[in-house]
Amino acid sequence: MSERLSTTADPITPDGERPFVRVAGCDELARNGDRVHVQLLGQDGSPRHVSLINHEGEVFAVDSLCYHAGGPLGAGEIEDVGGTACLSCPWHLYKVALGSGEKLYGSTKFADDGVTLIPDGVKSVGKRQRTHEVQIRADGVYVRLCLSGDLESDKYANKKVPGIAGARVIQVGGEVVTRV
Ligand code: FES
Repeated sequence: MSERLSTTADPITPDGERPFVRVAGCDELARNGDRVHVQLLGQDGSPRHVSLINHEGEVFAVDSLCYHAGGPLGAGEIEDVGGTACLSCPWHLYKVALGSGEKLYGSTKFADDGVTLIPDGVKSVGKRQRTHEVQIRADGVYVRLCLSGDLESDKYANKKVPGIAGARVIQVGGEVVTRV
């Protein structure tokens, strides 16, 4: 299946920031649970897989492939982990915060007796998954890749996506939109 959809990329700013790129119509990400998976192609033609997810009215953009081993994180269920909405990776069930890309986990500690393990709240190992900036505009949903520094999810960002159907290819600066 393929479709055409005009795509607008803002010019790269003088300080080298990436452009906002239109990736979807507003109606495609209007409801809780709506998702759109895209491949944003840079000038060199390499794809970056990004999943856009509406969770309770806010749209998040996160690298589609899990930093741990390349699993289809962008297709994972959303779980509440200590009050933070997280994607649960279908492969090894890592919990990655939608908003920050941090990997969260339920910590334990020894009780006063020194031998009994008890829950010690939710903790973060830090940001592992790249997240990106989203703007909802009158004519659609735009995303700007945030690529500063190194993050573990980078090593899988342009690999093939298993378990994520309907990825849409978007050429930055062009107007190519194809469902594959
Ligand atoms: Fe292992 Fe995602 S690939 S938790």
